[in-house]
Amino acid sequence: MSPVRRGPRRVPRAAHLAAALLAAPLALVPALAQAQDANLGRNVAATCANCHGTNGNARGDMKPLAGMPAEKLLAMLADFKNGNQPATIMHQIAKGYTDEQAKAVAAYFAAQKPAAK
Ligand code: HEC
Repeated sequence: MSPVRRGPRRVPRAAHLAAALLAAPLALVPALAQAQDANLGRNVAATCANCHGTNGNARGDMKPLAGMPAEKLLAMLADFKNGNQPATIMHQIAKGYTDEQAKAVAAYFAAQKPAAK
């Protein structure tokens, strides 16, 4: 039997570098999350835009969210979330947001100007 080499396994320098490069963006994530807080409402609102329009100004049959009082929007989201308000899709969507995100997006939409139709 050939002797088994013991001792620390040599990891090529390039592998260390690659690991460091991969880890660097991950280390930035908490800092970014904090930096984004000021824009949380706008960022969450962007995820509603596909269906509810840019800044809550919907087109077509979709009801606009722009200018809706924050309490009303929050209550609607809560009703979707807990099933009090049956929906085709919003009951699922509402479940994907934290209370903090819901508050932020409600405040954001409340501050938007409804577009003239
Ligand atoms: C995939 C499309 C889609 C997305 C994305 C979406 N919604 Fe909706 N939303 C709907 C539909 C459709 C309705 C009508 C209720 C239903 O059938 O689900 C609705 C209804 C609502 C209502 C009730 C409006 C009213 O006056 O009755 C609110 C409030 C609302 N959405 C908020 C949001 C918020 C806030 C977001 C983003 C966090 C969002 N929606 C994302 C499709 C969407």
